[in-house]
Amino acid sequence: MYTKVNSMMVQGIDGLFISVETDVSAGLPEFSMVGYLSSEVREARERVRISLKNSGFALPPRRITVNLSPADLRKEGTSFDLAVALGILASYGHLPEQCLRRLAVIGELGLDGGVRPVPGVLSMVGAAKEAGVSGCIVPKENEAEGALVEEMAVAGVENLPEAVRLLQTPGAWQERIREPVWTPEDRPNYGEDFSEVNGQIALKRAAEVAAAGMHNLLMIGPPGSGKTMVARRIPTILPELTRKESLEVSKIYSVCGLLPPDRPLKTERPFRAPHHTASYQSLVGGGRVPKPGELSLANRGVLFLDELPEFPKVSLEVLRQPLEDRAVRISRVQGSYLFPADCMVVAAMNPCRCGYYPDRSRCQCGEAEVKRYLRRISRPLLDRMDLCVEAPAIGFEAVRAEGENETSAQIRSRVREAWERQRHRLRDAGIDCNAQMTGRHVKTYCRLDEQEESMMAHIFEKLGLSARAYYRILKVARTIADLDGEDKIMERHLGEALGYRGLEQRFWG
Ligand SMILES: Nc1ncnc2c1ncn2[C@@H]1O[C@H](COP(=O)(O)OP(=O)(O)OP(=O)(O)O)[C@@H](O)[C@H]1O
Ligand SMILES: [Mg+2]
Ligand SMILES: [Zn+2]
Repeated sequence: MYTKVNSMMVQGIDGLFISVETDVSAGLPEFSMVGYLSSEVREARERVRISLKNSGFALPPRRITVNLSPADLRKEGTSFDLAVALGILASYGHLPEQCLRRLAVIGELGLDGGVRPVPGVLSMVGAAKEAGVSGCIVPKENEAEGALVEEMAVAGVENLPEAVRLLQTPGAWQERIREPVWTPEDRPNYGEDFSEVNGQIALKRAAEVAAAGMHNLLMIGPPGSGKTMVARRIPTILPELTRKESLEVSKIYSVCGLLPPDRPLKTERPFRAPHHTASYQSLVGGGRVPKPGELSLANRGVLFLDELPEFPKVSLEVLRQPLEDRAVRISRVQGSYLFPADCMVVAAMNPCRCGYYPDRSRCQCGEAEVKRYLRRISRPLLDRMDLCVEAPAIGFEAVRAEGENETSAQIRSRVREAWERQRHRLRDAGIDCNAQMTGRHVKTYCRLDEQEESMMAHIFEKLGLSARAYYRILKVARTIADLDGEDKIMERHLGEALGYRGLEQRFWG
């Protein structure tokens, strides 16, 4: 008998609809699986066969053929196991086929008949909904995650017999549906606050401007001046994720298998701090079956590159294109993958090997050595750092001060207002923050009056700016004006934005 069961797979971060067709007929006993399968999927045959046996289903030997379609799509992963097993049971007449018709079945099988969790359930259930499916059977551990998709009935199962009972028992399905869990009171708790940072007024201001437009930030200074400390607190001054953003972020963590089963919705702004020894693949994503990298895990949040010059050159160079596109593109024979990478990059570094240049009372590094150290950061990468700021050494008094520093919440409320202004202005462009503006957008949204225009013309010549640097300055100036509550970019805004380039001139000349 022929049956069809719906299942899902992930490709990149997208869920795709897969049909599992099963036919059981007389003839030489054999179990074959076809349909452009990767080796992982081919092994499903053994897992399914043994887990059926160990779950107590005695099936007389027949000729079993399983086909996964569409045929032109390479099948990856282990999410079809359960669907294959249920399809076989239905073909043997153990399950009424119609009970599966409007469902999608997702899950890996163990040899003991247990249903194991799989990555990407959020994407898969979301895509199942778009395909018109009305319910999903998922692994128990992924149930809460699947239930984040609204208007979708989701039931988690622990093993194959439980899935069978669920389908055989009238009414069981209704009882098992997991209602969407949605806990907006789940406020992010970062455990760190900007009020802990003493002094460093200029550094804190730069962090606020960067956060207000999602611009990239480079901090330079001696050891122990608070660079790492500030970077870690930037997520605390970014406005909360919207619900749409939360789901978008959670999807990426889901396909990477990084969502905790009990708290599947990510409500904190991502903060990723890959070590400089991380491979470039883990930074931008990749692999035979491409998975998102740190850049995409930082989507809608912060990618922190601490000790920037310590990163291998190739790692820094592969970041260049994605930073411009705010997305990562990876091509493989089986298709091309697009991962979002809409994050702000925050980088920190010492100006030389010892860390104290240009303080000659402490730094013994030769001029040539300093130059060589700084040159590890290429000009094009430097161009992408919208704000460069110095974190000077702070005195003992300042470190010990018990003064009243502004809290993250206070700074965040200003950042939020600036964000709202940008969202409103950019609504027709389909983007939501200044950093996302392309050259074309800058021309439209960052118009300057005559006076400001001639100021920029003068400076462009004098500093020998690249076109990219010019646009970036205008974008940062736009954000400063937004923080200032001004519709017009004025000289003082341009002045501050240019100031964030001054350091670059001083160190890199
Ligand atoms: N501005 C500051 N206010 C309060 N504490 C500070 C400040 N700067 C540094 N500290 C203290 O010093 C510690 C080290 O600071 P941090 O790690 O941020 O330095 P850094 O600039 O990243 O140094 P390095 O260049 O060595 O990485 C912090 O954990 C904090 O306790
Ligand atoms: Mg540090
Ligand atoms: Zn030095």
